[in-house]
Amino acid sequence: MPSFNKTANFPPGFKHYPGYFSPTEQQALIKSVKSGVMEAPFFQPTMPRTGAPLSVVMSNFGPLGWVTDRERGYRYESVHPKTMAPWPPLPELLVRLWNEVTAYPAAPEATLINWYREDKSSKMGMHVDNDENNLRAPVVSVSLGDPAMFRIGGPKRGGTTKGLKLFSGDVVVLDREARLCHHGVSKVYYGESALVPKGGRINLTMRRVNEIGDA
Ligand code: SIN
Ligand code: FE2
Repeated sequence: MPSFNKTANFPPGFKHYPGYFSPTEQQALIKSVKSGVMEAPFFQPTMPRTGAPLSVVMSNFGPLGWVTDRERGYRYESVHPKTMAPWPPLPELLVRLWNEVTAYPAAPEATLINWYREDKSSKMGMHVDNDENNLRAPVVSVSLGDPAMFRIGGPKRGGTTKGLKLFSGDVVVLDREARLCHHGVSKVYYGESALVPKGGRINLTMRRVNEIGDA
């Protein structure tokens, strides 16, 4: 397994692999995102009930995708909310990543693509990833493009948080206690990377949704 940074005082199960993907691999991932979103275009997610737009736009890879809208809220769907077509398959580099940094004996079902856009000053509020039926499998996330300040707190809302600046090519794993900790992106350092064709930051978050053997 590749080596990761021991991040002092971060929740147990938090792992940071700085520069996991080489610049060439980062280009290949961006190419996969580009072809993915030709098939499954970025959509505008909205908050349950209020219908307020999130500042990021989203798409997904894999048999399931995370979506949200005013009417039906946060959930996983096997098709794109607008085209109603299945999501494109998970790129091979990401299949390999999951197998290298997790010991989980099944593939992730959902890979959420978040695009943080400079013109929207996109960020991500503190939240827990808990829309999955499977809350034990780790979450693996990849940063591409502009750097970002990732923040992580505890299992309860509020309280102190720790910050870590993530750069293009970095990988973060949330396993064990860290899996159910609040986290978010408080700031993106826009304009620092030329990797994303229209600028900004792309985050890819891989998740197992169901227990092994459940549909
Ligand atoms: C998220 O947790 O939803 C996104 C994290 C990130 O963009 O790094
Ligand atoms: Fe998250």
